[in-house]
Amino acid sequence: MENVMRNFFLFLSKNKFLTRSAKRYGLRFGAAKFVAGETIEEAVAVIKDLNNRGLKVTIDYLGEFVDNKKEADHMADNCITAIEAIGREKLVSQLSLKLTSMGMDISDEIVMANMKRIMEAAKNYNVFVTIDMEDYERCEKTLQIFKQLRLEYDNIGTVIQAYLFRTQEDMKDLDEYAPNLRLVKGAYKESPEVAFPDKSDVDDNYKKIIQMHLLHGHYTAVATHDDAIIEFTKQFVKEHEIPNDQFEFQMLYGIRSERQLELAKEGYTMRVYIPYGTDWYGYFMRRLAERPANVTFVLKGIFKN
Ligand code: FDA
Repeated sequence: MENVMRNFFLFLSKNKFLTRSAKRYGLRFGAAKFVAGETIEEAVAVIKDLNNRGLKVTIDYLGEFVDNKKEADHMADNCITAIEAIGREKLVSQLSLKLTSMGMDISDEIVMANMKRIMEAAKNYNVFVTIDMEDYERCEKTLQIFKQLRLEYDNIGTVIQAYLFRTQEDMKDLDEYAPNLRLVKGAYKESPEVAFPDKSDVDDNYKKIIQMHLLHGHYTAVATHDDAIIEFTKQFVKEHEIPNDQFEFQMLYGIRSERQLELAKEGYTMRVYIPYGTDWYGYFMRRLAERPANVTFVLKGIFKN
């Protein structure tokens, strides 16, 4: 049953008609639990509050699978607005973005022009930028663009998904770039030809890539809500005397907020991924796919209103 629901929400997450419709209706159906608002001002207020409680942040202006230049340029403008807000308001925040929202599906010229604009602004304000990883179809291209930008900029990282068979090879290939990587399980619906179908295999591979990246001496963001993986990481860094400034934990806004504070109090760097904007639909559907309890929460919200 859990798998049926997961597939159903992942299918919905890619529906263009529903994506467009959702924008018109504002943060409804419980999406506000996972999204920090529709405007930069709302997001800034949330970030200040989290920073005051000892949590670091990465902010994400929501948007994906953009198919025209005007929209891609607009998305990049919004990322620059977010970078400027981080600088102006002295927020402890990085920026996360998706290359499909910068025009990756339209042309190489458009995505690179937008990324260069963003990276220049980020360099000026000393803001770190992480390129989120999207579906398998875009993985190779995303890594190529990351490598190209990494040659020019120090303040850029990307994401590696444990559920893909190719992941360990990708990490070996990336090694010479000394990459700052966010390691995740993976959120998209992928075929068993390219990704582990069983959760236990994903978890095993996740542990392997955490070990690999830490032992290679690179900065590692372990982005998970899974206590077993968090405990594994804590043990591993202790045994191998890996300093606390070589890794951090990351979680999504609205998920396990208490646990986030606990980890920060224990002395670990804890970063919260804060999405904001009107294009919240795909992101929200992936959160519902991850956990049936999230669906119950949303249903309760609908019937309360
Ligand atoms: P999983 O979903 O297996 O959950 C494991 C356990 O965590 C559960 O059994 C439960 O104990 C606990 N748990 C989970 N949710 C909970 C909740 N709401 N309340 C209480 N306990 C809960 N993906 C991607 O493909 N590309 C990307 O760029 C990113 N970026 C990203 C950034 C950040 C900061 C995070 C945290 C995640 C991503 N992801 C991502 C998403 C990631 O791939 C994955 O889909 C989710 O993190 C869910 O997987 P978990 O590792 O949390 O474990």
